[in-house]
Amino acid sequence: MSQFQIPVAVLGATGSVGQRFVSLLENHPWFKVVALAASDRSAGQKYSQAAHWVLDTPMPAYARDMVVVPASTETVDAKIVFSALHTEVANELEPQFAKAGAAVCSNASSYRRGADVPLLLPEVNADHIRLIERQRENKNWRGCIVANPNCTSTGMTVALHVLHQAFGVKKVFATSLQALSGAGYPGVSSLDIMDNVIPNVANGGEEEKVEWEPRKMLGKLNDGKIELADIQFSVHANRVGVIDGHTVCVSAALNQPVEPQTAIEALRDYAAPPSARELPSSPRPVIEVKDEADRPQPRLDRLTGNGMTTVVGRVRKDPIFDLKFVVLSHNTIRGAAGASIYNAELLTNEGLL
Ligand SMILES: NC(=O)c1ccc[n+]([C@@H]2O[C@H](COP(=O)([O-])OP(=O)(O)OC[C@H]3O[C@@H](n4cnc5c(N)ncnc54)[C@H](OP(=O)(O)O)[C@@H]3O)[C@@H](O)[C@H]2O)c1
Repeated sequence: MSQFQIPVAVLGATGSVGQRFVSLLENHPWFKVVALAASDRSAGQKYSQAAHWVLDTPMPAYARDMVVVPASTETVDAKIVFSALHTEVANELEPQFAKAGAAVCSNASSYRRGADVPLLLPEVNADHIRLIERQRENKNWRGCIVANPNCTSTGMTVALHVLHQAFGVKKVFATSLQALSGAGYPGVSSLDIMDNVIPNVANGGEEEKVEWEPRKMLGKLNDGKIELADIQFSVHANRVGVIDGHTVCVSAALNQPVEPQTAIEALRDYAAPPSARELPSSPRPVIEVKDEADRPQPRLDRLTGNGMTTVVGRVRKDPIFDLKFVVLSHNTIRGAAGASIYNAELLTNEGLL
């Protein structure tokens, strides 16, 4: 089969992230959607009936009349399976698909901590994809599971990677302002979030993820194992009344004092590793640094680089740490569906399907 007709499926296709997959996969140059799967609630219905469409672009014509199938290896036959399932469901289903030979590109947190599961941001740690070889040996799978990080870890990790490479990062203190779409659909009740900020995302679970996942992604792959980066994190995670786009305010202690302008130049000049530079979903640019004092803002900046670019602003000296800045990343594009698609493109190009 040519690279230009690889059959792919979306599990959890009717949800917040699933809809992004359906949208981003329209006219994808390599991938063709052959199955849309969801729960028993939706199975058997046309996608246009089952999905309560919440994106501000029209539902793609190719998906409207597709009949939603149950998420099982008996009903879904695809080379790449994009998973937008909740953790409890993903725990069980993703290994079944990997065992059946599919490359599972997952948004769920189920296997992110797996020692042989790549937690990937191709513009940061494309080399970690080689962990799949260890995974296939360990599990005796023909397929594999590749995870993308939590949507709040994503943009922050891209920016920290550049600073870590250039100056060394020791400690990070970060506060998130997370969009509503990050809670799925229907998500947080309007009466809870209107006129409000909720300082507790996923009952504290979010903070734990954002304090750990960057350490894996910024870690080194040595002899089939990831050595976690030696960086301390402290994170506050807050839900705010923004539809899309997670903002994170970051203060970082570095191994050496750095002038903000030097950090800005490092961030602006950063290019992804060669294997991740020219893929269809590669962020162009990887990082955009805003000069305006009141940017980035979710409404104005989240679609930079088609939602794949990490937007950084307010890079300045921190009187307690060394440097502080603000990061914005589109949570359902760079932080979820776009992330998995970018990972799948890397897998394809590296001959790992
Ligand atoms: N939203 C984000 O920004 C974001 C970012 C990164 C990662 N994630 C992760 O991505 C995953 C999906 O999140 P979401 O926000 O898209 O959730 P969501 O809007 O609640 O959607 C959940 C999807 O899973 C389906 N589903 C539920 N139970 C199922 C079952 N037993 N079998 C098969 N399908 C089932 C639902 O189908 P029905 O419509 O039929 O019920 C729906 O399509 C989660 O693990 C989340 O943590 C989300």
